[in-house]
Amino acid sequence: MCGIAGYIGYREAYPIVVNGLKRLEYRGYDSAGIMMYDGKKMHLSKTKGKVSDLELITEKETERKHGTIGIGHTRWATHGVPNDTNSHPHFSQSGDLVLVHNGIIENYDTIKKELISRGYTFKSDTDTEVLINLIEEVKKKENCKLGKAVQLALTQVVGAYAIAVFDITKPNEIVVARLGSPIAIGVGKDNKEFFIASDTSPFIEFTKKAIYLEDGELAIIKKDKEIKVRQIKDDKLINADIQKLQLSLEQIEKGGYEHFMLKEIHEQPRAIVDTYRGRMLPDEGVIKMAGIDDNMSKFLNADRIIIVACGTSWHAGLVGEYLFEDMARIPVEVEYASEFRYRNPIITSKDVVIAISQSGETADTLAAIKLAKSKGAFVFGVCNVVGSSIARETHAGAYTHAGPEIGVASTKAFTTQITVLSLIALKLAKEKGSLSTSAFQAYLQTMQLIPGQIEKLLEIDEHVKSIAAVYKNAKNCLYLGRGYNFPVALEGALKLKEISYIHAEGYPAAEMKHGPIALIDENMPIFVIATNKGHYEKVVSNIQEIKSRSGKIIAVVTEGDTTVKEIADHVIEIPETEEAFTPLLTTIPFQLLSYHIAVMLDKNVDQPRNLAKSVTVE
Ligand code: F6R
Repeated sequence: MCGIAGYIGYREAYPIVVNGLKRLEYRGYDSAGIMMYDGKKMHLSKTKGKVSDLELITEKETERKHGTIGIGHTRWATHGVPNDTNSHPHFSQSGDLVLVHNGIIENYDTIKKELISRGYTFKSDTDTEVLINLIEEVKKKENCKLGKAVQLALTQVVGAYAIAVFDITKPNEIVVARLGSPIAIGVGKDNKEFFIASDTSPFIEFTKKAIYLEDGELAIIKKDKEIKVRQIKDDKLINADIQKLQLSLEQIEKGGYEHFMLKEIHEQPRAIVDTYRGRMLPDEGVIKMAGIDDNMSKFLNADRIIIVACGTSWHAGLVGEYLFEDMARIPVEVEYASEFRYRNPIITSKDVVIAISQSGETADTLAAIKLAKSKGAFVFGVCNVVGSSIARETHAGAYTHAGPEIGVASTKAFTTQITVLSLIALKLAKEKGSLSTSAFQAYLQTMQLIPGQIEKLLEIDEHVKSIAAVYKNAKNCLYLGRGYNFPVALEGALKLKEISYIHAEGYPAAEMKHGPIALIDENMPIFVIATNKGHYEKVVSNIQEIKSRSGKIIAVVTEGDTTVKEIADHVIEIPETEEAFTPLLTTIPFQLLSYHIAVMLDKNVDQPRNLAKSVTVE
């Protein structure tokens, strides 16, 4: 995880780097730091805490903020606790070289011992300080320039990294490199300035041109010069592809909302439309998706589909399982990427693997993709971040067009992932003939209603807020759902845990009897999804069982429900839709509920403790 931001050019670098780091705080926010070069000296400022804490340090000391070259970092601790010393940037022993790093150097201990035997000493507990000293040692030994030293040092390193390195003895360049962690370079007009960042958001107001470094590549960035990109292993020069960015500043600002999470919850109608626009054509009775169309035979001949993902994306994958099996009659397995990759799974060339990831950078999902590819499977990606590592590593894919998701708790990513999976399932069902034309057509018409229904559903905010006020001090909560809504129960519980730190578990409603029922008493709020489709009567029976044990029932029901209304303590109504699409609606009240509880408890909604948006470590 961690975020990197840097600048080399003609403007004052400090505000660019610091504002950039703020936009990258979703990647980690337990410490922050910046090195500014003022033309003569390097000034280092770093601290435990957020970028705003870093600003407090530099507030009164203008000399720390002056200069046209700077590199900064926002950290999610891996090696070494979050404290001032372990914060980045890190200097080399001589003080000439300075480094910011996102990733993990797995063999740092061996390298450290070797460097200690050569007289190096270390101030921090980080793998990063080991790396910068390794670079220094190589530079001395080989008597080479910084770029070469970085390249040679990286060939000795095992692990993942995105790095930016500066050398005061050659203060006209920054060297960046990546393996497994992302890095983008913003290219200013006439090469007069360059921006370095973990994603393109830090420099979006300055340039729309960017180079995404590929794994195993290193770039030497010099003001007024063309960027030189080469492969680390074989030293081959690469023709770097300069891409045009679509991202806008407006997309990454709060737009009047108190938190990104609330903005993103409210963006869901638009995000879902953007995700199906141009793909779902109800008037023509077709779904167009190039990534599926071009590989249709792989899907139709697949023995099974394996979905790999983590966290919320895994929950979307579970909804996908119901969709694919129900509509397209293709067997599906849904796997936590972290388990799949280490389990020696049986994968063949007749398997289609679908990898789902909002960030497109999740280390375990990326590794699962590589494993599946090595076994000959066809791998399809469902990602939100354009140009991300997973989007590039997969054979084909479909983007969710949710727009940047900045709140750490995933909301619009989840619903847009389900939208893409619904489109794929419907498309395959039509192609296979497992759905009649009229049923297919009816699904398309119903899907078109979803954004408007969510819009209307969002109006229940005050009602959900009043429920949040009743249960905000609960210590434990249960979320129950069946069928398509079992994954929503898991997701509802995850949302509450993540941002309010209240313990919550999601369960298939019928499983309650096999254990969790023992927890139920008058203090236990139980959120039950009881929409009128699927297993309604069965869920009603489960609700009765909770009631007879004095549990508090908060039920999500379909508009017009009377039965559950009589039993439950609170009901939240959702509009009528096809059972397969109910997750797109039932998840909304749970998002709002978690949001309001977290706000009422005064928690940091957008940046909950210990979490990061992009989990680029295993
Ligand atoms: C939960 C959440 C995480 C992510 C998980 C996977 O709100 O955001 O559980 O879903 O870390 O991330 P991606 O989708 O980026 O692979």
